Amino acid sequence: FMLTVAAFGLVGCTVEQSTLDPKGPVAEQQVSLIYLSFWIMMGVTIVVAVILLYVLFRYRARKGQEYIPEQVEGNKWLEITWVVIPAILLTILLVPTISVTYNLADASDDGDGVEIVVTGKQYWWEFYYPELGIVTANELHIPTGKKIHLHLEASDVIHSFWVPKLAGKTDTIPGRTNYMWLQADEPGIYSGQCAEYCGSSHALMAFQVVAHEPEEFDSWVAQMTEPPSEPQTQLAQEGQEIFTQSCASCHAVEASEDTVGMQGPNLANYGNRNKMAAAIMENNKENLVDWIMNPQDIKPGNLMPDLDIDEQQAEALAEYLLNLK
Ligand code: CUA
Repeated sequence: FMLTVAAFGLVGCTVEQSTLDPKGPVAEQQVSLIYLSFWIMMGVTIVVAVILLYVLFRYRARKGQEYIPEQVEGNKWLEITWVVIPAILLTILLVPTISVTYNLADASDDGDGVEIVVTGKQYWWEFYYPELGIVTANELHIPTGKKIHLHLEASDVIHSFWVPKLAGKTDTIPGRTNYMWLQADEPGIYSGQCAEYCGSSHALMAFQVVAHEPEEFDSWVAQMTEPPSEPQTQLAQEGQEIFTQSCASCHAVEASEDTVGMQGPNLANYGNRNKMAAAIMENNKENLVDWIMNPQDIKPGNLMPDLDIDEQQAEALAEYLLNLK
């Protein structure tokens, strides 16, 4: 038993995607509704179960009792009671639900926030900051304590944007724009996930939200607006040549807004990323070489073609990309 408790304790600390562990005002309001409806339902369940057990026991057939008990039909006050009580309970749920719904639907810019266009694609995320003129992929950087206004779009099929600790999910739908907002109270990394089945690699369409203190966010933006770093080693230089030939038609290594909508994820300052391939693997050389050699084995159905290169060339490419900082 103690082991079980300890195991749950550990899980509680390491669950990256938990709606029950809110880290911002949107998620807090949503979880408060979850708890409210949970406790109301618990109350109803317990009352009904107790009455049921009492009636089963109190009016059970006893030994020697062979007649059919008196049959009753209808009871005005009982019927009024069981209409009025649920009506009251539903009203208790309805009032905060309406207020939270309106509050969360207000994704209008308050002048101080950051606007980001999120585009869901099979199977990765593009994040474009129109006010800042930069674009990145799979790692959404935001400042803490500010309202982040998201314009949600999709370029192929329906996806759904979900960061359990920060905000509930909203679909991204081709041909229309949905709006939502979120806010992170503390700096940190929050895991996100596509929450709408979108194809064979739906489960591998994750992302991370990296929340910085506002000054740190500004330096991240400044870093993104700089031109990509030049390769420092012979190997990285070889990698750059391969990149220019084989990768540059789909991937950009600069974050400029001219690169919005490219076929493959933006790779600006790639070496600074924590995770790779839409946050499904640690970003390191071994994983990157593996990815470059077998993208379809790792993420079936993604658009990355077989590059037809050997391991040495893949290593050069990885060296080049990981040194983009
Ligand atoms: Cu994208 Cu599921």
